[in-house]
This record gives sequence, C-alpha cells and structure tokens, in this order.
Amino acid sequence: MSTALVTGAAAGIGAQFAHHLARIGYGLVLVARDEERLDRTAAALRAEHGVAVEVLAADLATEDGIAAVERRAALGADLVVNNAGFGQRGDFLASDLVGELAMLKVHCEAVLRITRAALPPMLERGSGGVINVASVAAFFSRGTYSASKAWVITFSDSVRQQVDGSGVRVMALCPGWVRTEFHERSGMDTTGIPGFLWLDADRLVAAAMRDLRRGVAVSVPGVAYKVLIGLGKILPRRVTTALSARAGSHH
Ligand SMILES: NC(=O)c1ccc[n+]([C@@H]2O[C@H](COP(=O)([O-])OP(=O)(O)OC[C@H]3O[C@@H](n4cnc5c(N)ncnc54)[C@H](OP(=O)(O)O)[C@@H]3O)[C@@H](O)[C@H]2O)c1
Repeated sequence: MSTALVTGAAAGIGAQFAHHLARIGYGLVLVARDEERLDRTAAALRAEHGVAVEVLAADLATEDGIAAVERRAALGADLVVNNAGFGQRGDFLASDLVGELAMLKVHCEAVLRITRAALPPMLERGSGGVINVASVAAFFSRGTYSASKAWVITFSDSVRQQVDGSGVRVMALCPGWVRTEFHERSGMDTTGIPGFLWLDADRLVAAAMRDLRRGVAVSVPGVAYKVLIGLGKILPRRVTTALSARAGSHH
C-alpha cells in the first residue's frame, strides 16, 4: 500500500487531501497539533476506506515538532503534502513578532526540512511526490504570509528541477480562497469576497492530484486564479501591491 504524509490534516484542505488519498487507497500519516481531532479523523478514514492510518501529533512551529515529522518522513512515504499553515491579519509593524516568526517556521523551515527528509527514499525508489501548499497570495506583496508562500513556490520549483528525470515529482500548489477554518482562525473578514472566487476544497485537491500526475511545477486551480496570476505577472509590482492592499483581507 502506498503511504501519504499530510501535515495540517485535522481541518480544511489537509483533511480533504486525507479523504481523497484514502479513497484512492493510500495509507496515511496525519500530522497536526490537535491529537484528539486527528484520532477522530483517523478512525473515520479507517472505517470508511479500510486503509492504515497513523496519527502524528506535532507542532510545526517548534523544533521538536518539526524533528518528529522529519524522522517519520525519512522512514519513507510515497507522497508528502506539506499543507499546515495559517493566515495573518493586519499590518507588519503592528503585528506580533512571535507570530511572524512562527509563520516562517511552519511555512518555510518545516517545509524545507520535511521535503529534504522525504526525498532520499523516494529518489532511491525512483518514484514519489511532494506537494507544498503555497497560495495565490504568493504572487502579490502582502506581509510575511505572502512572502513565506512566495518562498514555498521558489523552493519547490528549484527542488523539482533538481530531481527532474528521477521519477519523483515536486509541485507547489497555489489555492485561491477556499472555505476552511483558515479565515476565522486568523480573524479575517471574508464578507467582501465574491462568490465566484471561492474554490471547493474537494475540487482543489482533485485538480492538484491531476497536476501532480502531469508534472506541473506550480499548480493554480481555477480559471479565475489563472487569469489573476497572469495579470499579476504583467502589471507593474506597484500596481498589484496597491490592489492587494485595497482587497482588505488576504489569504
Ligand atoms: N483557505 C484558503 O483560502 C487558503 C488559500 C490559500 C492557501 N491556503 C493554505 O492552505 C493550507 C491549509 O489551510 P486551510 O485553509 O486548510 O486552513 P485550516 O482549515 O485552518 O487548517 C489548517 C491546518 O493546519 C494545521 N496547523 C496549523 N498550525 C499548525 C502547526 N503549528 N503545526 C501543525 N499543524 C498546524 C491545523 O491543525 P491544528 O490546529 O490541529 O494544528 C489544521 O489541520 C495553509 O498552508 C494555507 O496557507 C489556504
């Protein structure tokens, strides 16, 4: 049985990845901080899909948490989804520095170390995949959140190029707005976001898996977001930065 390790599997996009992967027969390693919630998800996945599910409770904003997941990834997984993450609200100068640094740890350091730990066994076998969840926000300048997600894209694309031809796939996934716990957890107001910009988590995950199979470097599900990012690349940086600042809240 193939095994997938999914971080942030307790809720939202990560939980959707876990369900999708169990449905297609993957055994799972579920990572997040809330162990009880992971246990409940694990029991549901075992009952519904008859797959093996391990629970690994870890806080990826801590050294111990990252090291524990790193160790598990090094034992071998066929697919790793580095998805754990959180948003932030408000301006940089008014933000909590501890929170900013925790964001870099979860979005960057954990992604770097887990990817690095997972790749050697995959390369040895000549197969496997890593999906690092970035964001459409990565294409616009909006705080440490968008900067950390831009790092995820550049890092993933660089590693992808280095393992090219090995049979191992590395992809950055850039979701737009998806209804999860993300916005509420970080206190964002999403009332002004038009309905057509909301993506379904299950369709997002299906699109991501399709793009991984096709060897896409940076997956951007949804036509609206492909257009938005296209514009973001053409327009001057000052314009896109001003527009994203006016958008009020960000993701
Ligand atoms: N929703 C969107 O609109 C959107 C858009 C673009 C990108 N994204 C990205 O998609 C990813 C998933 O977000 P989501 O929308 O699914 O959010 P969510 O519903 O809030 O879920 C976040 C998941 O990450 C886990 N997590 C958070 N901090 C963690 C930590 N320190 N250590 C370990 N696990 C942690 C949470 O579980 P615990 O609390 O139990 O740890 C939860 O399982 C994030 O990387 C986010 O930046 C989301």
